[in-house]
Amino acid sequence: MNEFQSLFNRSQAVTPGGVHSPVRAFKGLEQAPIFFKSGEGAYLNDQNDKKYLDLCSSFGPLILGHRDPDVQRSIEEIVDKAWSFGAPEAYSLELAEWITNEIPWLDKIRFVNSGTEAVMTALRLAKGFTGKNKILKFDGCYHGHVDSMLVASGSGLAGTATASSAGISAAVASETLVAKLDDEKAVEEIFKREGSDIAAVIIEPLPANYGLLPQRNEFLQFLRKITKDNDALLIFDEVISGFRVAMGGMAEVSDVVPDLVTYGKIIGGGFPVGAFAGRDEVMDFLAPNGPVYQAGTLSGNPICMVAGLNTLKKIKNNNIIENTNKACEDFAAKLNDGFEKHGIPMQCIQMASLFFMTGKTTDPIRTIDQLPKDHGEHFKALYPKFLSRGLYVAPAAFEVGFFSAAIDSELSEKACQNILDACSEYFNEKR
Ligand SMILES: Cc1ncc(COP(=O)(O)O)c(C=O)c1O
Repeated sequence: MNEFQSLFNRSQAVTPGGVHSPVRAFKGLEQAPIFFKSGEGAYLNDQNDKKYLDLCSSFGPLILGHRDPDVQRSIEEIVDKAWSFGAPEAYSLELAEWITNEIPWLDKIRFVNSGTEAVMTALRLAKGFTGKNKILKFDGCYHGHVDSMLVASGSGLAGTATASSAGISAAVASETLVAKLDDEKAVEEIFKREGSDIAAVIIEPLPANYGLLPQRNEFLQFLRKITKDNDALLIFDEVISGFRVAMGGMAEVSDVVPDLVTYGKIIGGGFPVGAFAGRDEVMDFLAPNGPVYQAGTLSGNPICMVAGLNTLKKIKNNNIIENTNKACEDFAAKLNDGFEKHGIPMQCIQMASLFFMTGKTTDPIRTIDQLPKDHGEHFKALYPKFLSRGLYVAPAAFEVGFFSAAIDSELSEKACQNILDACSEYFNEKR
């Protein structure tokens, strides 16, 4: 038995499924998950000291790569001074001021410990602020494991939802409405029927949890208008896109200003931080000012705040976003050229520093039902070929790839070659 299988067996004995988050379990792949020991720059090192180029970046937070030396220094300094106070401190203040200065439409921000927590509270705040009960979400968007967001389209009336996880009551699911992405008509119909009770529409403005599904800007503008017209809030879930596609996330890129935004991942630089933010009028509905309750023992934890602040400062001072976006664009262009040249029926969809490889299609993919049906089958066969060539991508078919600033042009070129090599081998085997 190899070392990973033996570690996985031990893990399964003490942890459900052997993991602390399901996607890590390599489910559907024919091997035990890799256990990692360390990370440095663009690389992950496994327990056996095998090196992998990291194209997953911890699912997004590590835009600077692993253990950026400047951020590491700031963490070492704060560890000597401040762990947790459960009382006001200036570290979270500095991060809050920095973000609200950078993103002009944000008056106030509150820090929590994860993206899920940020979404959970943003939804409660929207309901408290509007006095309404329902939330409209989109098929294919993920918003963390909040009960009301773990739903899929129901089979009854258009827009209705059913729970997609056990443990979620029909009553909770009935407070969520689900529409298809890219479909103005469906949203209009739902608003016509239920508009008086819709507190908010929540969307990943760049959906990146079920493949990468860039939306038409007009669709985001339409959501802005219909929410405004119906006294509902628009929530942009920028847990992935925030501080990645631009400092001001998709709100900046699309020029559509939501009422509330949720952040996670990059905001903590690899440490557990989530946040939600918006204008005074809405944010002041929160306790202790307002009637919507929210709290957290470790919220605004000094170590996480310092890691987040120094990550964001480094991103800004070194043009990391622009450079990483360009590097990922070049990577995708080279891959697409290679797919074409070698007759490989695949494409690399890219936006900013996110990418997703899937089967070739003639039209842009904007909804989950436009994704190629054989995507999962190809992914399963390709995954071990990527690993054996020293490439680590997320171990699940519909996860996107995350480029980091630590991947220089030489590494990018090599990754491209390795991917083309793996794909050529696979499609030759299939022929
Ligand atoms: C868009 C989006 N929202 C919310 C979440 C939940 O964040 P967390 O995993 O930090 O709870 C995620 C996680 O991947 C996400 O991608």
